[in-house]
Amino acid sequence: MDEAQVPPFVLPELLKAADGKAVTSKDDWRWKRRPELLALFEQEMYGQAPARPPLAFAVLEEATPALEGKALRKQVRVFFSGRKEGPAMDVLMYVPATASGPVPFFWGLNFNGNHTVSADAAIALPRPAPASSGKPRLKPLKPAERGSEASRWQIEAVLAHGYGTATAWYEDIDPDYDDGFQNGVHALFPEIEARRGGTTWGSLAAWAWGLRVGMDYLVREPWCDAARVGLHGHSRLGKAAVWAGAQDERFSLVISNNSGCGGAALSKRFFGENVGGINTNFPHWFCSNYHQWKGREPDMPFDQHQLLALVAPRGLLVGSAEEDLWADPEGEFLAARAASPAFVLLGEKGLEAHWKRENSAISQGNPAHWQRPGKHDVTDQDWERWMSFARSRWGK
Ligand code: GCU
Repeated sequence: MDEAQVPPFVLPELLKAADGKAVTSKDDWRWKRRPELLALFEQEMYGQAPARPPLAFAVLEEATPALEGKALRKQVRVFFSGRKEGPAMDVLMYVPATASGPVPFFWGLNFNGNHTVSADAAIALPRPAPASSGKPRLKPLKPAERGSEASRWQIEAVLAHGYGTATAWYEDIDPDYDDGFQNGVHALFPEIEARRGGTTWGSLAAWAWGLRVGMDYLVREPWCDAARVGLHGHSRLGKAAVWAGAQDERFSLVISNNSGCGGAALSKRFFGENVGGINTNFPHWFCSNYHQWKGREPDMPFDQHQLLALVAPRGLLVGSAEEDLWADPEGEFLAARAASPAFVLLGEKGLEAHWKRENSAISQGNPAHWQRPGKHDVTDQDWERWMSFARSRWGK
């Protein structure tokens, strides 16, 4: 990965509609450009998801004191079929024990099971994935230990700031391997699978759909102040969070952490992971139309700044890590900056900073970008920045 190899590139227009007309007002954005860009990303990249089911859930655990009295915990199974059966995700929630009413929530998927986000021994273990009629996994899932990813969740710190936190295991929604879309939520829609084509949803769209089903639950959850839900995701789950947040305006802010190619990073910089590589290594992530852009980044009629712009005027924080060159920190920053005119059009401050290779400061305004030293990960420093950004949006 060599910065000198980055080709000259021109980004597709953000504030010009497909008919060539300039987008100059909030109404132009809302009624014309935003729907047009959403359709573009749906058709060319992530694929089209079906309507979400009517909410169906079962309480697995009622409010229970947890974390040495600092929290209340609750666990709820949210079904994807609209009935209390079939594929479902288990949502784990904590709120501060001192909360006297609904609190703002952070909501995000985890990589290895709810039991990894805290050492709390009462967290239900993941259920084994249902037997699949598709291809078997090449590698069995690694058994993950309780609390093994606690540093990525910082639950005590989140609670100390007065926020709630909710998470579910992403493989409850769709197991992350190429099985020909036979398992997970794809299997719930045989009529869609029967005519799978270029714009049919892949796994990222399924995870994003699951995040939105989770929001369908959170708006009904008495613990949650549904007007202040921050959606966050790291890496592939950051890609899913950005797509869900772009589509669903109920999320008051969106945090993309190290989401890289197919997430916050510009594809046309062709630095780090690229469209060919990601589709070869993860053929099930995107819709098959996206595969046609393999090696053709210069010809792509869209790029990720246009996706980030769909979050406007809600809060957007793009997080990078200095050593995470695979995700292209500079490409993530430049995408956020190139998305900024849509935020400004909608009355936000925008992102005016210039790129710095070593830049551990958060840029002010919205969208915001933050880069910390270190590797691809989620750290306590990230969470402190996310929460100060949330505080700037949500108030006390
Ligand atoms: C791989 C992949 C990335 C992805 C990452 C992750 O590195 O190439 O696109 O973001 O896995 O999800 O951890």
